[in-house]
Amino acid sequence: MNVLVIGGAGYIGTHVVKAMLNAEHEVTVFDNLSSGQLGNLFPEALFVPGDIRHQDDIQAVFARGFDACIHLAACKSVGESMQSPEKYSINNISGTINILNAACAWNCPNIVFSSSAAIFGTPRYVPIDENHPPNPESYYGFTKLEIEQMLKWYDITKKLKFAALRYFNAVGYDPDGDIIGLERNPENLLPIIMEVASGWRKELQIFGNDYDTRDGTCIRDYVHVTDLADAHVKALEYISKKRKA
Ligand SMILES: NC(=O)c1ccc[n+]([C@@H]2O[C@H](COP(=O)([O-])OP(=O)(O)OC[C@H]3O[C@@H](n4cnc5c(N)ncnc54)[C@H](O)[C@@H]3O)[C@@H](O)[C@H]2O)c1
Repeated sequence: MNVLVIGGAGYIGTHVVKAMLNAEHEVTVFDNLSSGQLGNLFPEALFVPGDIRHQDDIQAVFARGFDACIHLAACKSVGESMQSPEKYSINNISGTINILNAACAWNCPNIVFSSSAAIFGTPRYVPIDENHPPNPESYYGFTKLEIEQMLKWYDITKKLKFAALRYFNAVGYDPDGDIIGLERNPENLLPIIMEVASGWRKELQIFGNDYDTRDGTCIRDYVHVTDLADAHVKALEYISKKRKA
């Protein structure tokens, strides 16, 4: 497939690009490099700089013609989303509306979307399954749930097939060492812990001490970024085969 990876210069995106290339798909990366890094782009993938908030940029890239799109571009800080919801409305929700409309206009029929475990909120039961009721506790989580709802309606009305992957905390790096750029100003737990361990950051703040756990602190779930990248390849191949069936 000829695949557009939006946000493909970011932490998860670069691993997804590698997995897509390994699976012998053709890849174009679209990214505004707000947190992504040029140094981790693969020479085998074409890079088109641009911003999902700008309709002209996104229409122009989709005009190249793709069989599928993987949409990873977003602001992703839970705390910041509560301070500046307008930023999250524009980047996450409006940006995605631009993508969906361009995908329809230029006949890109399949999309894999980076959703988040943040759509669930505090679990009512564990392990959480797909039927667990969503109840986001942050504006960030709300934007992801809102986008999932939009995807359902574009599927019904425009036959845009989608998979929404609700990631938990992505961790680790490419075992082959092909992706080495550390995240700039990380907002996720593991890179922050690594910065503290390396002496680049003074401390890690742990919030909450009265959870129903052995030491009162919260329990998190993790997924290795390479497994996550493989899941994108499988999800894309699944929805595209389902469409043809
Ligand atoms: N990292 C995690 O643990 C985690 C967990 C759940 C969900 N997610 C979701 O996965 C996706 C990727 O996360 P990540 O950790 O790789 O983050 P990241 O910040 O490393 O990657 C996001 C990429 O999108 C690009 N981008 C952002 N806004 C853009 C815009 N307006 N136009 C074009 N490009 C833009 C950035 O430059 C960056 O390359 C995000 O949607 C995030 O919400 C991540």
